[in-house]
Amino acid sequence: MAGELWSFRLTIRPIRSKLRATQPLPWVIRDEIGMTGTKYTCKGDYGCGLAQCVACSVLIDGVVARSCVILIAGIYGRKITTIEAIDQDDVGQRVVASWVKHQVAQCGYGQFGKVIAARNRSGNALTPRSG
Ligand code: FES
Repeated sequence: MAGELWSFRLTIRPIRSKLRATQPLPWVIRDEIGMTGTKYTCKGDYGCGLAQCVACSVLIDGVVARSCVILIAGIYGRKITTIEAIDQDDVGQRVVASWVKHQVAQCGYGQFGKVIAARNRSGNALTPRSG
């Protein structure tokens, strides 16, 4: 999948096919765009569907959000960034590199949400460094 699809702006177009405005965001992310890093309970993956486990976390306009409780109708035109794109800037690369270096222990489902949260907390305050 092309990298530019990993971070996308939600428009009316993907909704036209089979989605309704009252469906949660993971339906767009997983079924329409095909990015499965975002987990959701009703799709057979693990997750709570209650904004509690972080497995479905994404960035919406740069702010971390639990996508399982966000309806498509409320986020038209907003920029959505999923775990697949989290290492596409210097800060995200450093977060992922640190995560691997320190072998952060998490379950496979909540880990993506925690990486996104760490990236969100880091914001742009971190400056790239060599080595
Ligand atoms: S699926 Fe658990 S927080 Fe969204």
